[in-house]
Amino acid sequence: MENKLVNIEIDGESIEVEAETSILDAAKILNKDIPTLCYLEEKNLIGACRICLVEIENSGKLAASCITPVSEGLKIKTNSSRIRRNRKMNLEFLLSNHNIECPSCISNESCELREIAEEFGVREVRFEGKKSSYQIDQSTPSIFRDPEKCILCRRCESVCRDIQSVEAVQVFGRGFETVIKPSFYENLADSPCVLCGQCTLVCPTGALREKEYIEEVWQALDDPEKHVVVQTAPAVRVS
Ligand code: FES
Repeated sequence: MENKLVNIEIDGESIEVEAETSILDAAKILNKDIPTLCYLEEKNLIGACRICLVEIENSGKLAASCITPVSEGLKIKTNSSRIRRNRKMNLEFLLSNHNIECPSCISNESCELREIAEEFGVREVRFEGKKSSYQIDQSTPSIFRDPEKCILCRRCESVCRDIQSVEAVQVFGRGFETVIKPSFYENLADSPCVLCGQCTLVCPTGALREKEYIEEVWQALDDPEKHVVVQTAPAVRVS
């Protein structure tokens, strides 16, 4: 059976797409650049970070484009001062409970969160408060886990469960106590983790990294030239 097509408008451009296509996917067809963080194509569609907000002109409401399907006659704005303001605020909420020691972070040069923070011009976080405090987990030979760098995007959980069928890491707790950790254990070494490393490939921050990569960074820190590169990378700071 053929899928039903619907007509929508994105930033004034008309397009016909299959019903149930997400706004994010429809916008990609028109080469619209919508930032995302928790989204992982066909794997993690939970709408957690709200960085991909767009405006539904028909209702005036903001919606997470990665999980909102199109419908006939929908008119969408992907870029306006209201959208940018709200995306930036959501980013600051994420950063308010994040270890923002970027210069010493293992993912300093490859952090999606930091890249988006720079893109949005975040130089300080307005929402100061209690921060989660966790131990670094170095219990396995190949995976480094720093829960204080985790933004609860749940990409690791989805690849571990849906791709690898392992379920070594899961979300636990509620509200401020929410944490992604090895299932029922404190350390990865005690969990069913098979050290496949898939979680390290999808983590957008420095929460999960391969130890081999970390060794390279530490070696780079001993190299005076590379040391300068790592140290001068812009950091996000709390005022
Ligand atoms: Fe859409 Fe996170 S990317 S809510």
